Amino acid sequence: MISVEVRAGLRRYDVLIESGLLVSAGEFVKKRLHGPRCALISDSNIASLFDERIKQSLLSAGFQPTPVTIPAGEQSKTLAQADAICDQMIAAGLDRQSFVIGLGGGVIGDISGFVAAIFLRGIPHVQIPTTLLAMVDSSIGGKTGVNTRDGKNLLGAIHHPVLVIDDVDVLKTLPHREFNQGFAEIIKHAIIADAEMFTTLKDVDPENLVPLIRRNIEIKSKIVAKDERDRTGERALLNFGHTIGHAIERAGNYRKFLHGEAISLGLIAACDVSMKKAGLARDQRDAVANLLRQFDLPTQLPKDFPREKIFEALRFDKKFEHGEIRFVVTSTIGSAHLSNDVTPDDIREAVARL
Ligand SMILES: NC(=O)c1ccc[n+]([C@@H]2O[C@H](COP(=O)([O-])OP(=O)(O)OC[C@H]3O[C@@H](n4cnc5c(N)ncnc54)[C@H](O)[C@@H]3O)[C@@H](O)[C@H]2O)c1
Ligand SMILES: [Zn+2]
Repeated sequence: MISVEVRAGLRRYDVLIESGLLVSAGEFVKKRLHGPRCALISDSNIASLFDERIKQSLLSAGFQPTPVTIPAGEQSKTLAQADAICDQMIAAGLDRQSFVIGLGGGVIGDISGFVAAIFLRGIPHVQIPTTLLAMVDSSIGGKTGVNTRDGKNLLGAIHHPVLVIDDVDVLKTLPHREFNQGFAEIIKHAIIADAEMFTTLKDVDPENLVPLIRRNIEIKSKIVAKDERDRTGERALLNFGHTIGHAIERAGNYRKFLHGEAISLGLIAACDVSMKKAGLARDQRDAVANLLRQFDLPTQLPKDFPREKIFEALRFDKKFEHGEIRFVVTSTIGSAHLSNDVTPDDIREAVARL
């Protein structure tokens, strides 16, 4: 089994990566937490697939799990849903010794982590990610939260998990589109930090994802360790492709594109801006597009897509409100930096070309 230690501030925790870890989840948790009560939070798609296996494993390790299932989908990531989860935890008698397990994709990771952060002012959180995106991205870094009427992730807390268990077998039931969107974040990591991974991605073996997941966790956790609270600009590099990507996601009412698909388009636009403002070579930009297409990720907007909505959505981006844009660019694959030199017109041009 691979074990990666993640450091953030004073906190350290392990990410375990291997096939078939779910049945031993209880044992891994027992080495770190006593409970005995815990909430096992998952969504309506995941509960029927994996809840029973984990529940049995927790019971055999002496824990008393309370399963809490919420409707699948982004629309469940609300304060009202977090409140309802807390009510169920109180009714089940969870106390300060109890802990929360989030079993699911990024939605479950974010809301279960948020609940763990606020329940009795904070109890431990264990993440068991079930999507590729959650394994390589959302389960690392400690950002938890919920959405409000006005936007995504506006309420939240930094609350690192005590343990992350990545059982790669769970990815077998993941729909194709959901699986592929994880590669948008992996390709982003390669562009900003790992030129070698970029060249190997075209030959990735879907049956042997452990080394790839490990590498991506290392990349993200290294960046987070340097700038846990977004203060120095280092963590902002993880937003490469996300300024325009988020605007596309919003312009499509969060229905037209999955997050990773919108980010795929955002990566292309960010590469175009980088060609103009940071000297990125055209063949590198084309290599990014080819790689994204290999994972069936979009690299062009549909002709009839309402582009003006993207510009409207960009105004919601906090960076634009005060007139100064800090835009992440790359001069060469494997590195990225923040630029103050990118204008709204540069962004407009890049979106118009998509
Ligand atoms: N905290 C962070 O740092 C961070 C980073 C990136 C994204 N996020 C958040 O992550 C969320 C997106 O995550 P996501 O893409 O994992 O979405 P998700 O949690 O909605 O999962 C996608 C879909 O796949 C289903 N599913 C999950 N695992 C499955 C499996 N193994 N088999 C079959 N179906 C399965 C889910 O029920 C859901 O319908 C967003 O809310 C985003 O804001 C957070
Ligand atoms: Zn993302």
